[in-house]
Amino acid sequence: KNIVVLISSNGSNLQAMIDACESGIIKDARISAVLSNKADAYGLERARQAGIDALHLCAADYADRAAFDLAMAERIDSYQPDLVILAGFMRILSGDFVRHYQGRMLNVHPSLLPKYTGLNTHQRAIDAGDDEHGTSVHFVTEELDGGPVILQAKVPIFAGDTADEVMARVQEQEHRIYPMVANWCLQDRVVMTDGKAVLDGLPL
Ligand code: GRF
Repeated sequence: KNIVVLISSNGSNLQAMIDACESGIIKDARISAVLSNKADAYGLERARQAGIDALHLCAADYADRAAFDLAMAERIDSYQPDLVILAGFMRILSGDFVRHYQGRMLNVHPSLLPKYTGLNTHQRAIDAGDDEHGTSVHFVTEELDGGPVILQAKVPIFAGDTADEVMARVQEQEHRIYPMVANWCLQDRVVMTDGKAVLDGLPL
């Protein structure tokens, strides 16, 4: 099976996916391409080092979001992916793009959804006085960070924690659960039915 990963920066979740394909946590699959909307994304270097096609498309080269998303979809579809993985891809996607990959596109969001959609989730959780935080892997739908959640992992927030400290704790969990969920999807164990995530036939 084939995976295409979309990134914008560091790509630590991409690295977790690369490692999981090698170790067999993700079975019988390969990442065929990594696409970034930022030329200097370190994840592109990670892709090259792993022998994976590293692609860059610049939004400023396109007339509007629809044109950019269409160009991305053309590139992505040339690899005939079974799964599209958003891994720190920091751009809003058009409805047409999202619908095109409905049920076969995942995102990881650094909060215990439905709490804290959007940006700066770690600081917001600290500011709210929360004693726990976490990450959610979900199917991508047209609602930003609003698609059905497949799996979450929690981490504690300790008194005096900085946002960076909480983020590091959260990312450690992302690197563990995101490849697991990717594997479930590729094995057709988890699917999206009527807008809901279903694992092994049971609604989540
Ligand atoms: C992750 O923490 C993820 O939750 C969010 O963006 C971050 C990307 O980090 N969507 P990286 O590029 O995978 O290191």
